[in-house]
Amino acid sequence: MAVNTLKTIFWTFKNIKSIKNWKKRQFSPPSPEVIKHKIIINNNLENCLWIETGTYYGNTTKLLSGISKKTITIEADKYLHENTKKKLRYLKNIEFLYGNSENLLLTALESGLNYKNVCIYLDAHLCTDHIRQKNTFSHKNSETSILNELQLVEKYLQKFEKINILIDDIRLFDKNFQNYPNKKLIVDWCDKNQLSWSIEHDIMICRKL
Ligand SMILES: C[S@@+](CC[C@H](N)C(=O)[O-])C[C@H]1O[C@@H](n2cnc3c(N)ncnc32)[C@H](O)[C@@H]1O
Repeated sequence: MAVNTLKTIFWTFKNIKSIKNWKKRQFSPPSPEVIKHKIIINNNLENCLWIETGTYYGNTTKLLSGISKKTITIEADKYLHENTKKKLRYLKNIEFLYGNSENLLLTALESGLNYKNVCIYLDAHLCTDHIRQKNTFSHKNSETSILNELQLVEKYLQKFEKINILIDDIRLFDKNFQNYPNKKLIVDWCDKNQLSWSIEHDIMICRKL
């Protein structure tokens, strides 16, 4: 049997449960993690630094480590930070930062200035910890720090040759959910900074032209 056929069988077997669940939801957003991970891989830049806000249990951090030269991940929940850092300690190209993305994104960008290309995955927001069954870091009315994060990123746009910024959960950006801004604001931000944008599977992708 050809290697590709075997790979497809293995992939299908591994992901059958989440794909079936997605089908039950009529393929509505959010897409399963495996699909989101494909979008991330498709938007990777060569030899880049990846920065992730919101480490959580490190599923995406692990993926980023495998496709990047270096990955910096930021988490404000102490338990999640320590737990994931310990779990992924064998992956030597990951730097784990503990604290608020609104402060640490600057540290991460600053330390990455020797890279030509950077990819940023903005995913820091209030969510339910599915293992501890409690809310993760963040407060009512400040559930997402996206606008502050974008303000910081803006200052660094000219410092890298290529930048891809991936904003997860874009379906929530409709002004009616928590403190999420309307998508239009993000579109305006892209226009102002001459970035192209598109939306794939609940992830908004902003690229330096
Ligand atoms: C949706 S989860 C991240 C999922 C993870 N990126 C993944 O793909 O598996 C959001 C995470 O962001 C963290 N978080 C929320 N607000 C934050 C902030 N301002 N700074 C850093 N982390 C934050 C939460 O504690 C939570 O672990």
